[in-house]
Amino acid sequence: MSGDFRVRDVSLAPKGRLQIEWAESRMPVLRLISDEFIRSKPLSGIKISAVLHVTKETAVLVKTLIAGGADVWLAGSNPLSTQDEVAAALVDEGAHVFAWRGESRDEYYWCIERISEVMPNIIIDDGGDLHAYIHAKELFKELIGGTEETTTGVQRLRILEKEGRLKYPVIAVNDSYTKYLFDNRYGTGQSTIDGLLRATNILVAGKVAVVAGYGWVGRGIATRLRGMGARVIITEVDPIKALEAVMDGFDVMPMSKACEVGDIFITATGNINVIRAEHMIKMKDGALLANSGHFNVEINIDDLESLATSKRRVREHVTEYLLRNGKRVYLLAEGRLLNLVAAEGHPSEVMDLSFSNQAYAVKYLVENKGKLRNAVYKLPDELDRAIARLKLRSMGIEIDELSEEQIKYLSSWELGT
Ligand code: NAD
Ligand code: ADE
Repeated sequence: MSGDFRVRDVSLAPKGRLQIEWAESRMPVLRLISDEFIRSKPLSGIKISAVLHVTKETAVLVKTLIAGGADVWLAGSNPLSTQDEVAAALVDEGAHVFAWRGESRDEYYWCIERISEVMPNIIIDDGGDLHAYIHAKELFKELIGGTEETTTGVQRLRILEKEGRLKYPVIAVNDSYTKYLFDNRYGTGQSTIDGLLRATNILVAGKVAVVAGYGWVGRGIATRLRGMGARVIITEVDPIKALEAVMDGFDVMPMSKACEVGDIFITATGNINVIRAEHMIKMKDGALLANSGHFNVEINIDDLESLATSKRRVREHVTEYLLRNGKRVYLLAEGRLLNLVAAEGHPSEVMDLSFSNQAYAVKYLVENKGKLRNAVYKLPDELDRAIARLKLRSMGIEIDELSEEQIKYLSSWELGT
């Protein structure tokens, strides 16, 4: 082992602490869980290794896990998403952080290696790289189980499960209602626009925006773009999602047509090579290309490089490619998650839901040690609903309750017209 943390600059800690305080004040559900963890110490003696975007919201989760008694090892979930001041502040909180903004691919995996070799009891992942690494290196001897934050990671784990090669139980946090319905949709919807505006400062109104994928992330982005006055086109491969997009009032067409009319392209599919050379050469001069899916594979950057005669960085998160046909296209955030690279990721209010799911999932795995199969599970429905109730309460919103008569009615089949 080479020391128990590696961050950009520990002297950034005071700035990071202020950021964490700001997030904490907007994460009331996680604060309640933290209070409970302080009292009952459910994670006493538990070693947790996590690969998460190192943001102020992640810091609130890490502090909660430490409050519960855990020893936490943290690496970033993307080479460009770490907030260096937060990483520094977390070191002060006692976490073993291996993350800095601007890691190379080798450094990214070096950090994952550092947090894996401690032989964790629980792993928390966002995207599946930690799960894949732990499986490849067979570092699961001490492992009770793991969690997974995002759609792409869950998809990878389900394939491992299907092939009979999953080595420990996993809670697919992404699949909680209080995660994907809010984080993927409203969180990514807002923070992707935030990234687009911070990167470019363009006027959205009147632009033609093409959103690839009408899943939870895509519909969030499309809805927010429309709200700002863009004319939005959806591209899809799933006929049901495409039909939903049509009935939600969006134009739907294949990328081969959309590429000719779009001013802004945002991919959100979790799939590879959604925008390729054949599309790029038909784009308008000045087209903006961005991605909010987990990996930087949705826009084929090799194609862009080989079509270009030159490239230059024109703003912090904007690279201009001059194509052989004389047109310029602009790649934002190097094709990586626009919302986390050019902005700060999802707002704290929505991460309150996602990370309350993570905290409950970790506790659930520890409490059920040895009782779960090597399978991908959802968090139990009652915990999912408990999070929604706590969130509503924190917002001062009350809802109705079923009466005895209504419960009886809903559990009988005899009564009709
Ligand atoms: P989803 O499965 O709900 O939606 C993906 C959609 O893309 C599906 O409807 C699918 O049919 C469509 N699709 C697949 N291939 C396509 C193609 N070639 N062209 C057009 N459409 C295609 O998934 P989701 O929850 O919306 O997540 C999408 C991606 O965003 C994943 O990689 C996920 O991990 C990531 N994600 C990112 C953030 C963020 O902060 N940026 C947050 C949550 C999820
Ligand atoms: N994913 C998207 N937004 C995030 C945030 N603010 N913190 C951690 N992970 C995220």
